[in-house]
Amino acid sequence: MAKPPLLLRQALRPVLRALDSRIDRRIRHTGGERGRTVAELRRAVEELRAEVSALRSGGAPGVGPGGPPNAADPAADPVVRATVEAIFGPEGRRDRRVDPDRMRMLAAELADLGDPRGVAPREVVIAHRTLVEVENRGVGRVAGSTPNIVGKLAAVPLLRPPNGEILEIGCLYGLFAGALVRQVLRSGNDYRLTLVDPVAPRQLQGGRELREDASGVPITEALVRSNLALAGVDPDRTRLCRGLSGDPEVRTAASDRSYGLIVVDGDHTAEGVAADLEWVETITAPGAVVVLDDYGARQWPGVQEATDRHLKRGDGRLEWVGRVATSAFLRAR
Ligand SMILES: C[S@@+](CC[C@H](N)C(=O)[O-])C[C@H]1O[C@@H](n2cnc3c(N)ncnc32)[C@H](O)[C@@H]1O
Repeated sequence: MAKPPLLLRQALRPVLRALDSRIDRRIRHTGGERGRTVAELRRAVEELRAEVSALRSGGAPGVGPGGPPNAADPAADPVVRATVEAIFGPEGRRDRRVDPDRMRMLAAELADLGDPRGVAPREVVIAHRTLVEVENRGVGRVAGSTPNIVGKLAAVPLLRPPNGEILEIGCLYGLFAGALVRQVLRSGNDYRLTLVDPVAPRQLQGGRELREDASGVPITEALVRSNLALAGVDPDRTRLCRGLSGDPEVRTAASDRSYGLIVVDGDHTAEGVAADLEWVETITAPGAVVVLDDYGARQWPGVQEATDRHLKRGDGRLEWVGRVATSAFLRAR
């Protein structure tokens, strides 16, 4: 049998201890009767195997042969499968189930950003949990693949933004911002959140409306604010600058502070990203973290094109830190 993963082994430890002592008791009970002892032990091992298998699937211990039809392979049980899909599955958004190998790879990519305490694997688990919780509680969806979102969220406590002033350019339903606030709190900073988005009923890209969102939900200001409230974001620490990031009145309103964390996720064309980077150069605090979403994503080549061109010039304050999934991370000098 393959070795179960560490977390599962830890969760099973009390059960294994209880079973060990049960086996001990049985050995003492049977005294010198070797044949009976062996048979008893064999039965105890069988019971242990059934209990481990039930616990692995999240089922009740003690369900073994004679239990539900698929107790031997709970993942094949249609009820288990439908339940997992309902909570983590791709209906109305991207799939939120995780491939353990991809998650390990993600932790390695994050560690390359700098992880002297070796906490990247833990941060990946916590970020995934936060994504699922915020998205399931709210209305709409967080945009993007699970590894990319988890990577962006997990990077925040690792990169330790210098202050809790957050700017997200392009907030869609506001759900990612809700998750981001939690990650900033995890990094030990207090927070203030600024969102810049036109809040068009359908997402705008390069000035054009995209087709109906995968979630089937139109975007409204009331919805963005409700999602932030559902995620636990304090309305007194939040402002929504409604409009495009290039609008002069939006820039004036949002340029009143130096941000410690900026997520560029609005207009994904090369021109749009280039203009956002120019602006970002002027509103970042020293040491600020800047995230370029969809860097290297096949469907948005403009993000990488504009970012690479901006960095190549070498006359700005932003420097390359690294890439995780399809997000690039920069740091302000
Ligand atoms: C990809 S979505 C953002 C996804 C969101 N950050 C998330 O993680 O769920 C892009 C959002 O930016 C908005 N947008 C498009 N162009 C923009 C611009 N120039 N300035 C600000 N927002 C823009 C779109 O309407 C949309 O709401």
